[in-house]
Amino acid sequence: MAKVAFLGLGVMGSPMAGHLAAKGHDVTVYNRTSAKAEAWVAKHGGAHATTPREAARGAEIVFACVGNDDDLRSVVLGADGALAGMERGATFVDHTTASAEVARELAAAAAEAGIGFVDAPVSGGQAGAENGVLTVMCGGEAETYAKVEPAIMSFARASRLMGPAGAGQLTKMVNQICIAGLVQGLSEGVHFAKRAGLDVEAVLEVISKGAAGSWQMENRGKTMNAGTFDFGFAVDWMRKDLGILLDEGRRNGAKLPVSALVDQFYAEVQSMGGGRWDTSSLVARLER
Ligand SMILES: NC(=O)c1ccc[n+]([C@@H]2O[C@H](COP(=O)([O-])OP(=O)(O)OC[C@H]3O[C@@H](n4cnc5c(N)ncnc54)[C@H](OP(=O)(O)O)[C@@H]3O)[C@@H](O)[C@H]2O)c1
Repeated sequence: MAKVAFLGLGVMGSPMAGHLAAKGHDVTVYNRTSAKAEAWVAKHGGAHATTPREAARGAEIVFACVGNDDDLRSVVLGADGALAGMERGATFVDHTTASAEVARELAAAAAEAGIGFVDAPVSGGQAGAENGVLTVMCGGEAETYAKVEPAIMSFARASRLMGPAGAGQLTKMVNQICIAGLVQGLSEGVHFAKRAGLDVEAVLEVISKGAAGSWQMENRGKTMNAGTFDFGFAVDWMRKDLGILLDEGRRNGAKLPVSALVDQFYAEVQSMGGGRWDTSSLVARLER
């Protein structure tokens, strides 16, 4: 079992760090709002530190799961950043959904200090984190990845190295592209079924067994029909992810017309006050 640190105890980070502790790792946590770190230690044991640097000191692996590119830079770089506290040979594993560019930038900064870096965004949501069944998409060097995979599997059902630094983030972008259009299609289906006077739950139940079935239909269909969205993956986060992948698409020449359109639909949901609603709230703008 390893001495590890975990930076960022949000909806995702807190249960992920909890699984590491439950597997017997020696975990030191850091959270910007320190009350959350204190509460985490009271529940799971281990220790908490007041800066990323302090948390990272002596750790073989430092995990992070914060908000966006700039949040990530703020916990990795600078005098109080994790790299300042890490020793040569240690590895930084980043579970934030961020750009491929920041992954390459931080991998280079880490390499200069003799530290490994793996970008490792996750899929599976809050429930996946709490139940320890996330899917993890990784970028980095094979030798570095091999060192951290067993610890990642403390909270994952699947983890895979996809290529060099940034490849994990690029894979997560594909994940979000596939979800964006699908949720809009599902929203239109639910909306149409209502207008047609059908029993929406019965419709979803029968068609989910056929070619239209999806994770979103199984897990979000009922709540979309009921119009409840106060849970899950926030629209604000989805817009961050769509912004990242549309930028990348402009660079690599990929055509993403539906993703760009759905991004605008989510902007409408934000203007309806739905920034923290689950991404299935796309249906709400059709029902207005
Ligand atoms: N929620 C999901 O279903 C889900 C699924 C897949 C991927 N993700 C991705 O996972 C990441 C985290 O999501 P989440 O839902 O756990 O978010 P969250 O609940 O909002 O937690 C964000 C965490 O990052 C910390 N943080 C933010 N900015 C920071 C900064 N500048 N310096 C230091 N710490 C900072 C926050 O600290 P404070 O407590 O002080 O605010 C908090 O611990 C995001 O990139 C998101 O896109 C989320």
